[in-house]
Amino acid sequence: MSKHTVTRRISVPDIRAMKGRDKIVCLTAYTAPVAALLDPHVDVLLVGDSVGMVVHGLPTPTGVTLDMMILHGQAVMRGSSHALVVVDLPFGTFEGSPEQAFASSVRVMQETGCQAVKIEAGVALARTIAFLVQRGVPVMGHVGLRPQAVHIDGGFKAKGRSDDERARVIAEARAVEEAGCFAIVLEGVAESLAAEISGIVSVPTIGIGASSVCDGQILVTDDMLGTFERVPKFVRRYADLRTTIDDAVARYAADVRAATFPGEAEVYRFKPKSP
Ligand code: KIV
Repeated sequence: MSKHTVTRRISVPDIRAMKGRDKIVCLTAYTAPVAALLDPHVDVLLVGDSVGMVVHGLPTPTGVTLDMMILHGQAVMRGSSHALVVVDLPFGTFEGSPEQAFASSVRVMQETGCQAVKIEAGVALARTIAFLVQRGVPVMGHVGLRPQAVHIDGGFKAKGRSDDERARVIAEARAVEEAGCFAIVLEGVAESLAAEISGIVSVPTIGIGASSVCDGQILVTDDMLGTFERVPKFVRRYADLRTTIDDAVARYAADVRAATFPGEAEVYRFKPKSP
C-alpha cells in the first residue's frame, strides 16, 4: 500500500483485504525515532517481545513484561501515523485464562492506543483468541516456531520437519484462524508447509523464515539493519549499522582524546554586551 494513497492509519480490515492482492510489509519497532523512519515504508509495525533480546539484552523473550511492552508500544505509536501497530502479549500475560488475556489486551490497547495484539498460540489457546475477538480485541496469531516456547523446545527450532509436526502446525494455523485471528505469523517453517498453510487459511500469513510464499513478510529490524550480532539463516542484511556505529564511535573517541572535538564550529562564544 503506497503512503500516497493512505490518509489514515492502516486498519485491521485493510490488512485482511490484502491477502491475494498485495504483499504485506511488516517490521518490528520499539522506539519512536525508529518507528518514524519505518512508518512510511511498511504496512504493519510490530512491537515484538523480541525487544527483550535486541534492546534489553535478555537471553530469551520470557523475561519480557507487560509494562515493558506498554512502554515500547507507546513510543512506537508516538513515532508513527500510517502503519497498523500490533503489540505482542508477552509470556505469562495471556496463557492463564481468557480473562487474563482480556485484561492484558485491554491494558495494552488502552495505554498505548495500538490497534491489535499478537499472541503466540496454537490449538490450546484458540478459545482464548475467540474470547478476545468476540470482545473487540483484534488478534494476530503466531504459529510454527514460537520463541516464547524456547524452554519447552530447548532452543529456537524450526518446525515441520516430521509429518507429525507438519500436521501439528497446520492444526495450529487452522485453529487460530477459526478463532478469529485477522492474520497469522508463520515462523521457522519449510516453504512447502508455508505454502500449504497459506493456501488453506483465508487470512494473510506473515512469514519469518517461512519463504516468499507467505502473504507478507516480517523481520526483526535490528537483524536486517545489522545492529544485532547473531542472526538466523533467514535474515537478509540490508545494512551493516554495527560497523557504521563502531566506526563513528571510534572516530569520536579519537577526536576527544586528541582534543579536536569540540572544535570552533561546536563552541558557544558569547560576545560581551556593550554597556
Ligand atoms: O517478537 C517478535 O519480534 C516477533 C516477530 C519476529 C514475528 O514475534
